[in-house]
Amino acid sequence: MIKHFINLKDIPASDLRKIILDAKKRKIKRKNLNTLDVDKDNPLKGKLLIQMFEKASSRTRLSFYLAIKQLGGGTITIKANELHLGKGGESLADTAKILSTYGDGFMLRTDSDKKIEEFSKYLSIPIINGLSPSSHPTQVLSDIFTVEEITNKPISKLNICWIGDSNNVLNSLIATSVKFSFNLTIGCPKNYEPKKFVIDWAKKNNKKINIYNNPIKAIKNADIVFSDKVVSLNDKVNKLKKIKDFKNFQINSKLMSYAKKNAIFLHCLPRGSEVSDKVFLGKQSRVWQQALNRVHVQKSILLYCFGKLR
Ligand code: CP
Ligand code: NVA
Repeated sequence: MIKHFINLKDIPASDLRKIILDAKKRKIKRKNLNTLDVDKDNPLKGKLLIQMFEKASSRTRLSFYLAIKQLGGGTITIKANELHLGKGGESLADTAKILSTYGDGFMLRTDSDKKIEEFSKYLSIPIINGLSPSSHPTQVLSDIFTVEEITNKPISKLNICWIGDSNNVLNSLIATSVKFSFNLTIGCPKNYEPKKFVIDWAKKNNKKINIYNNPIKAIKNADIVFSDKVVSLNDKVNKLKKIKDFKNFQINSKLMSYAKKNAIFLHCLPRGSEVSDKVFLGKQSRVWQQALNRVHVQKSILLYCFGKLR
């Protein structure tokens, strides 16, 4: 069976843990290598990852490029508007067949969850979700790795807090709170809570997630504080109103002072008004380490998808 990487909730916890362990070992092993040096075992020699972006990306694009290169393979990046797909010239099924003929893996960033599902039906190569309206699985699995790397503790022993919008990144974080059994507390304004089906899924999996409309209550006792942009790429909302609604949820030094003394701040980037410069660039923030780790974890995700994870 093809191993797609679409939603964390659908991947067994043992596989997710295996990916993290592999990333840890590989990161240590290539400590003295240059950016484009290939890992000694050259596990994806000759393999091609096709990446397609229907919307902007800096980190996902570059980190997948480095990831496949360091595994011995290569990548080609295409823009959705350069294909026949969607402009009447070609069906998704035919495009999927072509991608499977030329490539070994397909990474897609899209505005449509349905499109990823459709592709997965017709591809004979694995598809990786590089961000969709409902989830951002490669980001969040990498963030779990970063949390454990920084704290040197299993994430199940930590209090994780999310202050911000109930978006794709949070959905993936909720999925990992079930898979890795950690304590998750969410702080967001009223009417911006996660969708009912997301919370119901967590409940069905015996996970109680604490949600507060008061940021101070949410952040108390947190070891790790996550945030993300108030207005996401796919948001078709009144942006000014939304930003105003989140005004009291900005992560600034005062709000951070209610978390545990050495709490760590993480953010996937790009950023907006949800975090002050002082916190984002301050000593509790590890956002650059977090961004770099995407290369390491995505390498192990690629190995998982290509059936090469040991
Ligand atoms: N964090 C993240 O996915 O960044 P990009 O949108 O730049 O890829
Ligand atoms: N929630 C954000 C994440 C960006 C990496 C978005 O979807 O735009």
